[in-house]
Amino acid sequence: MKNMVIDILSKAVTELSAEEISEILEQPPKPELGDYAFPCFRLAKVMRKAPNMIATDIYESVMKDERINESFDKVETNGAYVNFFTNKTLFAKTVLEKSMEDDYGSSHVGDGKTICIDYSSPNIAKNFHVGHLRTTVIGNSLFKIFTKQGYNVERINHLGDWGTQFGKLIVAYKNWGSEEKVKEKGIEELMRLYVLFHDEADKKPELEDEARLWFHRMELGDEEALNIWKWFVEISLEEFRRTYALLGVDFDHYTGESFYRNMTDDVVDELKKKNLLTESEGAMIVDLSEYDMAPCLILKKDGSSIYATRDIAAVEYRKKTYNFDKCIYVTGQEQKLHFAQVFKVMELLGYDWAKDSLVHIPYGLVSLDGAKLSSRGGNVIYAEDILKEAISKIREIIDEKNPDLSDEQKEEASRIVGVGAVIFNDLYNQRIKDVSFKWEHITSFEGETGPYVQYTYARCSSILRNLESFSLERHIDYSILTDFTSVDLLKEINRYQSVVDEAADRYEPSVVARYAVDLAQAFNRFYTENRIAVDDVTVRNTRTKITYITREILRDALNLLGIGCVEQM
Ligand code: ARG
Repeated sequence: MKNMVIDILSKAVTELSAEEISEILEQPPKPELGDYAFPCFRLAKVMRKAPNMIATDIYESVMKDERINESFDKVETNGAYVNFFTNKTLFAKTVLEKSMEDDYGSSHVGDGKTICIDYSSPNIAKNFHVGHLRTTVIGNSLFKIFTKQGYNVERINHLGDWGTQFGKLIVAYKNWGSEEKVKEKGIEELMRLYVLFHDEADKKPELEDEARLWFHRMELGDEEALNIWKWFVEISLEEFRRTYALLGVDFDHYTGESFYRNMTDDVVDELKKKNLLTESEGAMIVDLSEYDMAPCLILKKDGSSIYATRDIAAVEYRKKTYNFDKCIYVTGQEQKLHFAQVFKVMELLGYDWAKDSLVHIPYGLVSLDGAKLSSRGGNVIYAEDILKEAISKIREIIDEKNPDLSDEQKEEASRIVGVGAVIFNDLYNQRIKDVSFKWEHITSFEGETGPYVQYTYARCSSILRNLESFSLERHIDYSILTDFTSVDLLKEINRYQSVVDEAADRYEPSVVARYAVDLAQAFNRFYTENRIAVDDVTVRNTRTKITYITREILRDALNLLGIGCVEQM
C-alpha cells in the first residue's frame, strides 16, 4: 500500500522524486488521520504557495487516479496534509490470503547457499554452564531462521576436546581417581580431579611436566593416553546430550578441536610460506600490531599448537568441505579479540572471502543473582539443573491452573513450557545485553514471556477446538475485520515476513521473540473485543480464520526460537 501511495503521489507531484516522497510520507499515530499522510511544507518553498493550498491541489489531482476508488476508503486534506485512508476490507483480504500460504514467512534469499554455524561448543570434562546455554539457544534459533530463508545450514559443535588440560586430567585421574567414581559422578568428578591437580601441582611442580608428557603422548597418538581421553570425551558427551535432548537441539557435526589436530602443521607451513610467522620469546606468532591488535599466538614455546591454530585449520577445512557463504561463530563477547585475530590472519593469508564471510556473533553475560538454584556442589551451575528447575516450577503452576489434565499431559506441557520459558528469557533481549534470571518473571504466564506466548497459542487452539464447525474458505467477509483491534492484529500478521528477514540480517533472534509477544498481545486485544463463537456463520468463520492464522504464526515464530507448543496448559 505504501508503494501505491508513493506511486499515486509521484504522478500528482512532479516537483519531487519518488524517493523524496517516500522520505517525507508519514504514518500518522492516530487512526483519524489515516494510514498515510503527505505533508506539503517542503513543496511550499519550491512552489511559493501556501501549504494548505498545495494540499488541495494535490488532493484534486490524486482523486483522478483510478486506484483511489478501489484501494482506499477515502482521501482528505487536513491543513497542510493529504491523508490517505486505505481500504480496510481490501487490506484484510490481502493480508489473510497472503498469510494462508504454506510457506508464509519463508524466502529464497538463501537458496543454493550454505551457512556454517559454530555454536554451543562446550568443553570436555567441564560442566555445560549457563554461558553455553546462551550460545546453544542463539545458535539453534539462527539455524532455524536461516533455514527458513532457504539456506543450507551446517550445524557445527566445535567441542573443546583438545589441549594441555587433558594431560593434567590424566595425571590427576591416575593418581587420585577411580573408574567407579568417574562412572558414578561423571563430569562432576572430572572437575574435582582437575581442581585437585592444580592444588597438588602448587606443592609439586614436577606434576606439570608429567602432564605435559601425557598431552605429548596424546599428540603422538599413544594408545593408552588416547583411550583415557576418549573415555572422558564420551562421559562428557553423554551429559551434554541430555541437555541437548531437553532443549531439542541437534548438530550435523561434532567436530571439536581434536578433529583438527593433524591439520595444524599445514597451517604453520602455510603461514611460514607466506612470511607471516615471526618468533617472539620462543613462541611463534602472527604480528598484528599494524591492525591495532595483540599478536595471534600460533605455537607455544614447547611447539604445541593452540586454540587459535585449530580455529584457523577449522576455517580452511570448512571452506573446503562446505564451501560456505558465511561461517558464523556464536560465543561470549570475551572472545571478540580471538575471532578478530583469527579472521585477520585468514585475510593476511590471502583469502578474499574472509572479510565478508567470517562473522563473530557475540552475546552478553548471564547474571544469576536472585535465582535460587540447586547447585551440585561449589558454585557450579549446570544448564541441565536450570532447565529441570524451570520444568518443576511450571509443573506447580499447571497443577494449580489446569488440574483436569492427565498426568501425561501435565508432564509434557511442563517440559515444553518450562524449557521454552528459559529459552524465551534468553532470546527476548538483544543478544549483546546481559540476561538476568528471575524465576518469577521467567515462568510468569503474563507479560513478555515464553509462557505468555505459549498460553496465547493454547488459547487459540481451544477456541478452534470448541467450535463445532468452521470453514476457512466459505462464508468469509473481510469487512468484518475492519474494527480497530482487528486491523491492529492484521498489521501484526502482515509484519511476519519482514520480521524473519530482519532477524536474519541482524543475526538477532530477539526480533522474532519480540514479535511473538506483539502478535500475542494483538490477538488478546482482538479477542477481548470480538466474540468468535457467534451464531452468524459469516462473522464466526471470518473471525475464526484470523484466529487460525494467528495460531499458525505463533507456532512458527516459537519454532524459529527453538520453542515448542502445547494445545493445553
Ligand atoms: N569451547 C569454547 C568455549 O567454551 C567455544 C568454542 C567456540 N568455537 C570456536 N570455533 N572457537 O569457550
